[in-house]
Amino acid sequence: MKVLLVGGGGREHAIAESVARSNNNPELFAAMSKKNPGIARLCKEFLLIKETDPEVVDFAIKNKIELAIIGPETPLAAGISDRLWVAGIPVVGPRRMAAQIEFDKAWARDFMRRNAISGCPGFKVFRKGEDGTDEFIDELGDVVIKPAGLTGGKGVRVMGDHFGIEGAKSYAKEVLKNDDLVVEERLIGEEFTVQAFVDGKNLAFAPCVQDHKRAYDGDKGPNTGGMGSYTDSKDILPFMRESDYADAKKIMASTVQAIKKETGVLYQGILYGQFMATAKGISVIEFNSRFGDPEAMNVLPILETDFLDVCSAIVNGALDKIRVRFKKQATVCKYAVPVGYPDDPSKDSIVEIGAMKEAILFYSSVYEKDNKIYTTGSRAFGVLGIANTIKEAEIKAQSGILALKGALYSRRDIGTEELIRKRIQHMKELRAH
Ligand code: AMP
Ligand code: GLY
Repeated sequence: MKVLLVGGGGREHAIAESVARSNNNPELFAAMSKKNPGIARLCKEFLLIKETDPEVVDFAIKNKIELAIIGPETPLAAGISDRLWVAGIPVVGPRRMAAQIEFDKAWARDFMRRNAISGCPGFKVFRKGEDGTDEFIDELGDVVIKPAGLTGGKGVRVMGDHFGIEGAKSYAKEVLKNDDLVVEERLIGEEFTVQAFVDGKNLAFAPCVQDHKRAYDGDKGPNTGGMGSYTDSKDILPFMRESDYADAKKIMASTVQAIKKETGVLYQGILYGQFMATAKGISVIEFNSRFGDPEAMNVLPILETDFLDVCSAIVNGALDKIRVRFKKQATVCKYAVPVGYPDDPSKDSIVEIGAMKEAILFYSSVYEKDNKIYTTGSRAFGVLGIANTIKEAEIKAQSGILALKGALYSRRDIGTEELIRKRIQHMKELRAH
Protein backbone atom coordinates (compact mmCIF):
# COMPACT_ATOMS: atom_id res chain seq x y z
CA MET A 1 0.00 0.00 0.00
CA LYS A 2 1.34 3.44 -0.95
CA VAL A 3 1.01 5.70 2.05
CA LEU A 4 1.67 9.42 2.37
CA LEU A 5 2.53 10.80 5.78
CA VAL A 6 2.22 14.55 6.26
CA GLY A 7 4.31 16.04 9.07
CA GLY A 8 7.82 15.66 10.43
CA GLY A 9 7.80 15.66 14.24
CA GLY A 10 8.13 13.00 16.94
CA ARG A 11 4.47 12.10 16.57
CA GLU A 12 4.94 11.55 12.85
CA HIS A 13 8.06 9.47 13.42
CA ALA A 14 5.93 7.21 15.65
CA ILE A 15 3.27 7.04 12.93
CA ALA A 16 5.94 6.21 10.33
CA GLU A 17 7.24 3.34 12.49
CA SER A 18 3.71 1.96 12.79
CA VAL A 19 3.24 2.14 9.02
CA ALA A 20 6.59 0.46 8.46
CA ARG A 21 5.60 -2.41 10.80
CA SER A 22 2.39 -3.12 8.88
CA ASN A 23 1.82 -6.36 7.01
CA ASN A 24 0.05 -4.47 4.22
CA ASN A 25 3.20 -4.17 2.17
CA PRO A 26 3.67 -0.48 2.98
CA GLU A 27 5.53 1.93 0.77
CA LEU A 28 5.95 5.17 2.68
CA PHE A 29 6.15 8.68 1.25
CA ALA A 30 6.47 11.76 3.43
CA ALA A 31 5.81 15.47 3.12
CA MET A 32 7.52 17.43 5.87
CA SER A 33 8.93 20.90 6.41
CA LYS A 34 12.33 19.71 7.66
CA LYS A 35 14.07 16.42 7.07
CA ASN A 36 13.29 14.25 10.06
CA PRO A 37 16.09 11.66 9.93
CA GLY A 38 13.92 8.98 11.55
CA ILE A 39 11.14 9.37 9.01
CA ALA A 40 13.47 9.84 6.05
CA ARG A 41 15.06 6.49 6.84
CA LEU A 42 11.70 4.72 6.59
CA CYS A 43 10.61 6.45 3.40
CA LYS A 44 10.82 5.57 -0.23
CA GLU A 45 10.69 9.25 -1.07
CA PHE A 46 10.10 12.49 0.79
CA LEU A 47 9.30 16.04 -0.16
CA LEU A 48 10.51 18.98 1.92
CA ILE A 49 7.63 21.41 1.87
CA LYS A 50 5.46 23.48 4.17
CA GLU A 51 2.86 21.00 5.39
CA THR A 52 -0.01 23.38 4.59
CA ASP A 53 1.07 23.80 0.96
CA PRO A 54 -1.50 22.39 -1.54
CA GLU A 55 1.46 21.00 -3.51
CA VAL A 56 1.37 18.17 -0.97
CA VAL A 57 -1.66 16.97 -2.94
CA ASP A 58 0.22 17.05 -6.26
CA PHE A 59 2.99 14.99 -4.64
CA ALA A 60 0.37 12.46 -3.52
CA ILE A 61 -1.22 12.25 -6.97
CA LYS A 62 2.14 11.91 -8.69
CA ASN A 63 3.09 9.00 -6.45
CA LYS A 64 -0.30 7.25 -6.77
CA ILE A 65 -0.85 7.40 -3.03
CA GLU A 66 -3.62 5.10 -1.78
CA LEU A 67 -3.88 6.42 1.76
CA ALA A 68 -2.78 9.68 3.40
CA ILE A 69 -2.19 10.21 7.10
CA ILE A 70 -1.99 13.76 8.40
CA GLY A 71 -0.09 14.19 11.66
CA PRO A 72 -0.22 17.87 12.69
CA GLU A 73 -3.13 20.28 13.05
CA THR A 74 -1.96 22.99 10.66
CA PRO A 75 -2.54 21.04 7.39
CA LEU A 76 -5.96 19.97 8.71
CA ALA A 77 -6.83 23.62 9.38
CA ALA A 78 -5.59 24.48 5.88
CA GLY A 79 -7.95 21.95 4.29
CA ILE A 80 -5.29 19.56 2.96
CA SER A 81 -7.51 16.64 3.92
CA ASP A 82 -10.42 18.04 1.88
CA ARG A 83 -8.18 18.48 -1.16
CA LEU A 84 -6.83 14.95 -0.92
CA TRP A 85 -10.33 13.47 -0.71
CA VAL A 86 -11.33 15.53 -3.77
CA ALA A 87 -8.34 14.01 -5.59
CA GLY A 88 -9.71 10.56 -4.71
CA ILE A 89 -7.19 9.88 -1.95
CA PRO A 90 -8.65 8.66 1.37
CA VAL A 91 -7.30 10.46 4.41
CA VAL A 92 -6.81 9.70 8.08
CA GLY A 93 -7.30 13.22 9.43
CA PRO A 94 -10.57 15.15 9.44
CA ARG A 95 -11.72 17.62 6.82
CA ARG A 96 -11.49 21.30 7.66
CA MET A 97 -15.07 21.70 8.88
CA ALA A 98 -14.61 18.86 11.34
CA ALA A 99 -11.09 19.92 12.36
CA GLN A 100 -12.59 23.20 13.66
CA ILE A 101 -12.98 21.38 16.94
CA GLU A 102 -9.29 22.09 17.42
CA PHE A 103 -8.28 25.09 15.36
CA ASP A 104 -11.01 27.37 16.64
CA LYS A 105 -11.34 27.11 20.42
CA ALA A 106 -14.20 29.63 20.39
CA TRP A 107 -16.12 27.48 17.92
CA ALA A 108 -15.35 24.38 19.96
CA ARG A 109 -16.79 25.81 23.19
CA ASP A 110 -19.87 27.26 21.48
CA PHE A 111 -20.34 23.91 19.73
CA MET A 112 -20.23 22.07 23.06
CA ARG A 113 -22.81 24.41 24.52
CA ARG A 114 -25.14 24.26 21.48
CA ASN A 115 -25.05 20.47 21.50
CA ALA A 116 -25.25 20.09 25.28
CA ILE A 117 -22.04 18.03 25.29
CA SER A 118 -21.27 17.38 28.94
CA GLY A 119 -18.09 18.47 30.69
CA CYS A 120 -18.07 22.03 29.36
CA PRO A 121 -16.74 24.57 31.90
CA GLY A 122 -18.24 28.04 32.27
CA PHE A 123 -16.89 30.25 29.48
CA LYS A 124 -17.49 33.27 27.29
CA VAL A 125 -16.21 34.01 23.81
CA PHE A 126 -14.95 37.49 22.95
CA ARG A 127 -14.41 38.56 19.35
CA LYS A 128 -11.30 40.40 18.21
CA GLY A 129 -11.44 44.01 19.38
CA GLU A 130 -14.45 43.47 21.66
CA ASP A 131 -14.40 44.60 25.33
CA GLY A 132 -16.03 43.32 28.48
CA THR A 133 -13.31 40.87 29.46
CA ASP A 134 -12.56 42.62 32.78
CA GLU A 135 -16.15 42.18 33.97
CA PHE A 136 -16.28 38.52 33.00
CA ILE A 137 -12.91 37.76 34.57
CA ASP A 138 -14.12 39.38 37.80
CA GLU A 139 -17.33 37.34 37.61
CA LEU A 140 -15.53 33.99 37.26
CA GLY A 141 -12.73 34.92 39.65
CA ASP A 142 -10.41 32.09 38.67
CA VAL A 143 -9.84 31.91 34.92
CA VAL A 144 -7.93 30.55 31.98
CA ILE A 145 -7.31 32.78 28.96
CA LYS A 146 -7.25 31.03 25.58
CA PRO A 147 -6.56 32.58 22.21
CA ALA A 148 -9.09 31.01 19.80
CA GLY A 149 -6.56 30.16 17.09
CA LEU A 150 -3.71 27.65 16.95
CA THR A 151 -0.73 28.56 19.12
CA GLY A 152 1.24 25.31 19.21
CA GLY A 153 0.08 24.69 22.78
CA LYS A 154 1.78 27.83 24.04
CA GLY A 155 -0.99 30.46 23.98
CA VAL A 156 -3.10 29.33 26.92
CA ARG A 157 -2.42 30.99 30.27
CA VAL A 158 -3.76 29.86 33.59
CA MET A 159 -4.44 32.10 36.58
CA GLY A 160 -2.45 31.16 39.63
CA ASP A 161 0.24 29.53 37.49
CA HIS A 162 1.02 32.27 35.03
CA PHE A 163 -0.52 35.41 36.48
CA GLY A 164 -2.97 36.91 38.96
CA ILE A 165 -6.27 38.57 38.11
CA GLU A 166 -4.71 41.80 36.82
CA GLY A 167 -2.31 39.84 34.65
CA ALA A 168 -5.21 37.82 33.26
CA LYS A 169 -7.04 41.01 32.36
CA SER A 170 -4.11 42.52 30.55
CA TYR A 171 -3.28 39.27 28.73
CA ALA A 172 -6.91 39.04 27.57
CA LYS A 173 -6.71 42.56 26.12
CA GLU A 174 -3.40 41.79 24.44
CA VAL A 175 -4.79 38.64 22.77
CA LEU A 176 -7.95 40.44 21.64
CA LYS A 177 -5.89 42.81 19.51
CA ASN A 178 -5.13 39.95 17.12
CA ASP A 179 -7.47 37.04 17.77
CA ASP A 180 -10.79 35.92 19.20
CA LEU A 181 -10.60 34.77 22.76
CA VAL A 182 -12.13 32.33 25.21
CA VAL A 183 -12.21 33.20 28.89
CA GLU A 184 -13.14 30.16 30.91
CA GLU A 185 -13.43 28.80 34.38
CA ARG A 186 -10.23 27.36 35.75
CA LEU A 187 -10.62 23.65 36.40
CA ILE A 188 -8.84 22.08 39.34
CA GLY A 189 -7.77 18.47 39.15
CA GLU A 190 -5.60 16.05 37.22
CA GLU A 191 -5.38 16.02 33.44
CA PHE A 192 -5.65 13.01 31.19
CA THR A 193 -5.84 12.45 27.46
CA VAL A 194 -7.95 9.97 25.52
CA GLN A 195 -7.14 9.39 21.87
CA ALA A 196 -9.54 7.57 19.58
CA PHE A 197 -9.55 6.26 16.04
CA VAL A 198 -12.74 7.55 14.44
CA ASP A 199 -14.41 6.43 11.20
CA GLY A 200 -17.24 8.97 11.21
CA LYS A 201 -19.51 7.00 13.53
CA ASN A 202 -17.48 4.39 15.44
CA LEU A 203 -14.68 5.16 17.88
CA ALA A 204 -11.87 2.83 18.99
CA PHE A 205 -10.13 4.13 22.10
CA ALA A 206 -6.49 4.03 23.12
CA PRO A 207 -5.41 3.81 26.77
CA CYS A 208 -5.41 7.06 28.77
CA VAL A 209 -2.25 9.16 28.75
CA GLN A 210 -1.08 11.93 31.03
CA ASP A 211 0.96 14.64 29.36
CA HIS A 212 3.07 17.23 31.20
CA LYS A 213 2.61 20.64 29.66
CA ARG A 214 4.84 22.64 31.97
CA ALA A 215 8.49 23.09 31.10
CA TYR A 216 10.07 22.25 34.45
CA ASP A 217 9.97 19.62 37.18
CA GLY A 218 7.12 19.86 39.64
CA ASP A 219 4.83 21.30 36.90
CA LYS A 220 6.52 24.69 37.08
CA GLY A 221 7.28 27.12 34.32
CA PRO A 222 5.66 28.06 31.03
CA ASN A 223 3.33 25.83 29.01
CA THR A 224 5.00 23.86 26.25
CA GLY A 225 3.89 21.53 23.48
CA GLY A 226 4.30 18.75 26.08
CA MET A 227 7.42 17.57 27.93
CA GLY A 228 6.54 13.92 28.32
CA SER A 229 3.76 11.50 29.06
CA TYR A 230 2.93 8.08 30.43
CA THR A 231 0.37 5.30 30.23
CA ASP A 232 -0.27 2.48 32.68
CA SER A 233 -0.46 -1.23 31.87
CA LYS A 234 -4.24 -0.92 31.95
CA ASP A 235 -6.49 1.55 30.16
CA ILE A 236 -6.77 4.08 32.97
CA LEU A 237 -4.16 5.97 34.97
CA PRO A 238 -3.43 5.35 38.67
CA PHE A 239 -5.31 8.48 39.83
CA MET A 240 -8.40 7.77 37.71
CA ARG A 241 -11.65 5.95 38.27
CA GLU A 242 -13.13 3.63 35.65
CA SER A 243 -16.07 6.01 35.41
CA ASP A 244 -13.74 8.87 34.33
CA TYR A 245 -12.69 6.86 31.28
CA ALA A 246 -16.26 5.75 30.55
CA ASP A 247 -17.49 9.36 30.76
CA ALA A 248 -14.67 10.57 28.50
CA LYS A 249 -15.60 7.96 25.90
CA LYS A 250 -19.25 9.06 25.99
CA ILE A 251 -18.30 12.71 25.57
CA MET A 252 -16.07 11.90 22.59
CA ALA A 253 -18.71 9.73 20.93
CA SER A 254 -21.36 12.43 21.29
CA THR A 255 -18.89 14.98 19.92
CA VAL A 256 -18.34 12.91 16.76
CA GLN A 257 -22.10 12.57 16.33
CA ALA A 258 -22.74 16.27 16.84
CA ILE A 259 -20.02 17.22 14.35
CA LYS A 260 -21.79 15.13 11.72
CA LYS A 261 -25.14 16.67 12.59
CA GLU A 262 -23.88 20.26 12.58
CA THR A 263 -21.43 20.30 9.72
CA GLY A 264 -22.66 17.41 7.60
CA VAL A 265 -19.07 16.17 7.56
CA LEU A 266 -17.96 12.78 8.84
CA TYR A 267 -15.13 12.99 11.36
CA GLN A 268 -12.54 10.53 10.04
CA GLY A 269 -9.18 10.43 11.74
CA ILE A 270 -7.95 10.76 15.28
CA LEU A 271 -9.93 12.56 17.95
CA TYR A 272 -7.95 13.66 20.99
CA GLY A 273 -9.89 14.54 24.10
CA GLN A 274 -8.10 16.33 26.88
CA PHE A 275 -9.90 16.10 30.19
CA MET A 276 -9.58 17.27 33.75
CA ALA A 277 -10.61 14.83 36.46
CA THR A 278 -12.08 17.13 39.10
CA ALA A 279 -13.83 16.72 42.45
CA LYS A 280 -17.13 16.77 40.54
CA GLY A 281 -16.26 14.39 37.72
CA ILE A 282 -14.55 15.09 34.42
CA SER A 283 -14.50 18.26 32.32
CA VAL A 284 -13.24 18.88 28.83
CA ILE A 285 -10.11 21.02 28.57
CA GLU A 286 -10.06 20.81 24.81
CA PHE A 287 -10.32 18.60 21.77
CA ASN A 288 -7.60 18.11 19.21
CA SER A 289 -8.15 16.78 15.71
CA ARG A 290 -5.03 14.58 15.67
CA PHE A 291 -2.79 12.44 17.83
CA GLY A 292 -1.05 14.21 20.66
CA ASP A 293 2.64 14.85 20.52
CA PRO A 294 4.09 13.16 22.65
CA GLU A 295 1.00 11.03 23.36
CA ALA A 296 1.19 9.26 19.97
CA MET A 297 4.60 7.94 20.99
CA ASN A 298 3.02 6.25 24.02
CA VAL A 299 0.16 4.47 22.32
CA LEU A 300 1.26 3.64 18.76
CA PRO A 301 4.22 1.44 19.76
CA ILE A 302 1.90 -0.73 21.88
CA LEU A 303 -0.83 -0.98 19.24
CA GLU A 304 -1.19 -4.70 18.51
CA THR A 305 -3.60 -4.41 15.61
CA ASP A 306 -1.98 -3.67 12.25
CA PHE A 307 -1.96 0.13 12.04
CA LEU A 308 -2.79 0.21 8.33
CA ASP A 309 -5.78 -2.08 8.94
CA VAL A 310 -6.98 0.50 11.45
CA CYS A 311 -6.37 3.33 8.95
CA SER A 312 -8.29 1.48 6.22
CA ALA A 313 -11.18 0.94 8.62
CA ILE A 314 -11.17 4.68 9.45
CA VAL A 315 -11.47 5.76 5.82
CA ASN A 316 -13.98 3.02 4.96
CA GLY A 317 -16.27 3.60 7.94
CA ALA A 318 -15.57 0.07 9.11
CA LEU A 319 -14.03 0.40 12.57
CA ASP A 320 -16.84 -1.76 13.95
CA LYS A 321 -15.56 -4.63 11.79
CA ILE A 322 -12.12 -4.92 13.42
CA ARG A 323 -10.79 -5.22 16.95
CA VAL A 324 -8.35 -2.54 17.93
CA ARG A 325 -6.08 -3.85 20.66
CA PHE A 326 -3.20 -2.47 22.66
CA LYS A 327 -0.57 -4.39 24.62
CA LYS A 328 -1.15 -4.32 28.35
CA GLN A 329 2.10 -2.52 29.06
CA ALA A 330 3.06 0.77 30.65
CA THR A 331 4.93 3.45 28.72
CA VAL A 332 6.88 6.55 29.65
CA CYS A 333 7.90 9.09 27.03
CA LYS A 334 10.25 11.96 27.79
CA TYR A 335 11.08 14.81 25.50
CA ALA A 336 14.63 16.09 25.27
CA VAL A 337 14.36 19.77 24.37
CA PRO A 338 16.99 22.42 23.67
CA VAL A 339 18.22 24.14 26.83
CA GLY A 340 16.12 27.29 27.36
CA TYR A 341 13.00 25.87 25.65
CA PRO A 342 10.36 27.23 25.20
CA ASP A 343 11.22 30.90 25.89
CA ASP A 344 14.83 31.15 24.77
CA PRO A 345 15.92 27.81 23.28
CA SER A 346 19.49 27.18 22.20
CA LYS A 347 19.43 26.50 18.47
CA ASP A 348 21.74 24.83 15.98
CA SER A 349 23.75 22.91 18.52
CA ILE A 350 25.17 19.47 17.77
CA VAL A 351 23.70 16.43 19.46
CA GLU A 352 25.37 13.05 19.76
CA ILE A 353 23.14 10.05 19.96
CA GLY A 354 24.47 7.13 21.95
CA ALA A 355 23.08 3.59 22.01
CA MET A 356 19.45 3.44 23.10
CA LYS A 357 19.62 -0.11 24.43
CA GLU A 358 16.31 -0.37 26.32
CA ALA A 359 14.68 2.82 25.06
CA ILE A 360 13.10 3.72 21.74
CA LEU A 361 14.19 6.96 20.10
CA PHE A 362 11.90 9.19 18.09
CA TYR A 363 13.36 12.10 16.18
CA SER A 364 11.41 15.30 16.47
CA SER A 365 12.55 18.80 15.63
CA VAL A 366 16.16 18.29 14.59
CA TYR A 367 17.98 18.57 11.31
CA GLU A 368 20.86 16.77 9.68
CA LYS A 369 23.84 18.50 8.08
CA ASP A 370 27.09 16.81 6.99
CA ASN A 371 26.06 13.68 8.87
CA LYS A 372 25.61 15.55 12.12
CA ILE A 373 22.36 16.15 14.01
CA TYR A 374 21.47 19.68 15.16
CA THR A 375 18.72 21.10 17.36
CA THR A 376 16.19 23.65 16.17
CA GLY A 377 14.31 25.76 18.72
CA SER A 378 11.69 23.07 19.38
CA ARG A 379 11.44 19.71 21.12
CA ALA A 380 14.28 17.58 19.77
CA PHE A 381 13.79 13.89 20.64
CA GLY A 382 11.13 11.75 22.22
CA VAL A 383 12.52 8.83 24.18
CA LEU A 384 10.19 5.99 25.10
CA GLY A 385 10.38 3.18 27.63
CA ILE A 386 7.93 0.26 27.55
CA ALA A 387 7.64 -2.16 30.49
CA ASN A 388 5.22 -3.93 32.78
CA THR A 389 5.06 -1.02 35.21
CA ILE A 390 5.30 2.76 34.91
CA LYS A 391 8.31 2.67 37.22
CA GLU A 392 10.27 0.30 34.99
CA ALA A 393 9.23 2.17 31.86
CA GLU A 394 10.54 5.39 33.42
CA ILE A 395 13.92 3.83 34.10
CA LYS A 396 14.17 2.73 30.49
CA ALA A 397 13.14 6.14 29.15
CA GLN A 398 15.62 7.88 31.44
CA SER A 399 18.44 5.61 30.24
CA GLY A 400 17.65 6.73 26.69
CA ILE A 401 17.67 10.39 27.73
CA LEU A 402 21.14 9.92 29.23
CA ALA A 403 22.42 8.54 25.93
CA LEU A 404 21.74 11.91 24.25
CA LYS A 405 24.66 14.32 24.54
CA GLY A 406 24.29 18.02 23.82
CA ALA A 407 22.67 21.24 25.02
CA LEU A 408 19.49 19.40 25.95
CA TYR A 409 17.10 19.44 28.86
CA SER A 410 14.37 17.06 29.94
CA ARG A 411 12.11 16.70 32.94
CA ARG A 412 13.45 14.25 35.46
CA ASP A 413 10.16 13.70 37.28
CA ILE A 414 7.83 12.42 34.56
CA GLY A 415 6.74 8.84 35.26
CA THR A 416 8.58 8.60 38.59
CA GLU A 417 6.88 6.95 41.54
CA GLU A 418 7.03 10.16 43.48
CA LEU A 419 5.12 12.12 40.84
CA ILE A 420 2.53 9.37 40.36
CA ARG A 421 1.99 9.27 44.12
CA LYS A 422 1.46 13.04 44.10
CA ARG A 423 -1.18 12.71 41.37
CA ILE A 424 -3.03 10.02 43.32
CA GLN A 425 -2.86 12.05 46.52
CA HIS A 426 -4.07 15.19 44.74
CA MET A 427 -7.17 13.41 43.43
CA LYS A 428 -7.83 11.81 46.79
CA GLU A 429 -7.80 15.19 48.50
CA LEU A 430 -10.05 16.76 45.88
CA ARG A 431 -12.56 13.95 46.11
CA ALA A 432 -12.61 14.07 49.91
CA HIS A 433 -13.95 17.64 49.87
P1 AMP B 1 -4.58 23.69 25.80
O1 AMP B 1 -3.68 24.38 24.84
O2 AMP B 1 -6.02 24.05 25.67
O3 AMP B 1 -4.29 22.21 25.91
O4 AMP B 1 -4.17 24.23 27.24
C1 AMP B 1 -2.89 24.11 27.71
C2 AMP B 1 -2.94 23.76 29.17
O5 AMP B 1 -3.60 24.79 29.89
C3 AMP B 1 -3.72 22.52 29.49
O6 AMP B 1 -2.97 21.36 29.33
C4 AMP B 1 -4.07 22.76 30.92
O7 AMP B 1 -2.97 22.46 31.76
C5 AMP B 1 -4.30 24.22 30.96
N1 AMP B 1 -5.73 24.51 30.83
C6 AMP B 1 -6.45 24.74 29.70
N2 AMP B 1 -7.73 24.97 29.99
C7 AMP B 1 -7.86 24.90 31.32
C8 AMP B 1 -8.94 25.06 32.25
N3 AMP B 1 -10.16 25.38 31.86
N4 AMP B 1 -8.65 24.91 33.56
C9 AMP B 1 -7.41 24.63 34.00
N5 AMP B 1 -6.36 24.46 33.19
C10 AMP B 1 -6.57 24.60 31.87
N1 GLY C 1 0.67 17.06 23.90
C1 GLY C 1 -0.39 17.93 23.68
C2 GLY C 1 -0.81 18.05 22.30
O1 GLY C 1 -0.36 17.34 21.41
O2 GLY C 1 -1.64 18.90 22.01
